[in-house]
Amino acid sequence: MRNKPGTPPRRRTRIATTLSAALGSIAVLAAITLVTGGSAAAATTLGASAAERGRYFGTAVAASRLNDSAYTTILNREFNQVTPENEMKIDATEPQQNQFSYGNADRIVQHARSRGMQVRGHTLAWHSQQPGWMQNMSGSTLRQAMLNHVTQVATHFRGQVAWWDVVNEAFADGGSGARRDSNLQRTGNDWIEAAFRAADAADPNAQLCYNDYNIDNWNDAKTQAVYRMVQDFKSRGVPIDCVGLQSHFTGGSNYPSNYRTTLSSFAALGVDVHITELDIRNAPSDAYRNVVNDCLAVARCKGITVWGIRDSDSWRSGESPLLFNGSGQKKPAYDAVLTALNNGTPPGGNPTTTPPGGNPTTPPPGGGCTASITPGTVWGDRYNTSVTVSGATTWTVVAAVTAPQQITTTWSGSASLASNGTVLTMRSNGSGNTFGFTTMMNGNSGARPQIRSCTAG
Ligand code: G3I
Repeated sequence: MRNKPGTPPRRRTRIATTLSAALGSIAVLAAITLVTGGSAAAATTLGASAAERGRYFGTAVAASRLNDSAYTTILNREFNQVTPENEMKIDATEPQQNQFSYGNADRIVQHARSRGMQVRGHTLAWHSQQPGWMQNMSGSTLRQAMLNHVTQVATHFRGQVAWWDVVNEAFADGGSGARRDSNLQRTGNDWIEAAFRAADAADPNAQLCYNDYNIDNWNDAKTQAVYRMVQDFKSRGVPIDCVGLQSHFTGGSNYPSNYRTTLSSFAALGVDVHITELDIRNAPSDAYRNVVNDCLAVARCKGITVWGIRDSDSWRSGESPLLFNGSGQKKPAYDAVLTALNNGTPPGGNPTTTPPGGNPTTPPPGGGCTASITPGTVWGDRYNTSVTVSGATTWTVVAAVTAPQQITTTWSGSASLASNGTVLTMRSNGSGNTFGFTTMMNGNSGARPQIRSCTAG
């Protein structure tokens, strides 16, 4: 729980719990549909398949490539989550102290959100990619500048970024288990929790993550050190929601056989886990398949982001580590990933990996509500969905479909549609606790809606 004893529940906690509850319900209903319907076609894109399992499948995006139509064709077709590769880093967003620059980041965010893709913010506080003015700072001046940066940037993107990498790469490599030495670390050991608290104040609804590389092998000292920090933060009420495992299996790093143990161990601390920067040297199908299966086996593994689309887009292009070749063609690893996703158990299907207190079907505390999806009639070009709300008599539910799908008709609620018909905000209008909507498939027959939030009152 994010809340301190005696304080009212935060909206962030309620939404996260409700979303988990809704995803659990989707999973159960999806499972029923598969058993009774039997004719559901396998999804044909990574994002659609992941969405059917309550996950996202995303990619790092470079603003400079958004003019490349071969690039955007794959991006728009395959992915339902985006992380700006460099455009939200400190040197990009605050090149001069207190002069903020958001053009390229805004461009990526707009591209993603207008197509129903969720955005991961990367990254608010980091020893690297600091602008010159920050590199030269130290002590309380640097601490204040860092906190101001976190506050300003998280505020700018409030409501647009689903997850923030609040702090990136703060632990040392090797066997020491120590913090990485940096100008930020030298401001005091509490700099990480101070950054999380500032991000929490600036955007109470974003999910706040700690993100690092080489924390994939459960036996590594660095993994254990990050685990202990998250455990400590949870025990003291520091507002942390998730851990990002970059999972760069490039350079000297390899996929470890205990990767699933690492994911489930972090999850058991009561945080979500995200695979945030995946790439694998020479893109072997087996390792990519294993990563997908490991994520799907852990209920709190929310999704996978690959660190670029084509090999030519990769920071390590010489290792050809991605799912598409330089010509934009699918590689064998792509097929392995899509097949693994399509074969995956829907969320909630493996109760043994549900962490204590994290049962996705538990109604949220503190007067929240739960929204459950029931699939309706499917036609050749469109389908119906009904949503039942429990736990509140007046409510607001946000549901989303995956572009190019579009919600066109709604009933039994007060509706507002945004993002080209991909996001529906439905408010109770006194006609009961069930509402419905019709979605045009527009060529994407695999994806199905997700509940983003249910808010009482
Ligand atoms: O855009 C400039 C270009 O104008 C200039 O001519 C050129 C030469 O210096 O530099 C270009 O900027 C480079 C930028 O990538 C865009 O290509 C920067 O120098 C270069 O430092 C930067 O590298 C990025 C690196 O982080 C450092 O920030 C990589 O693209 C990016 O993939 C990489 O991503 C990191 C994650 O943020 C954190 N985890 C590890 C991951 C891989 O290193």
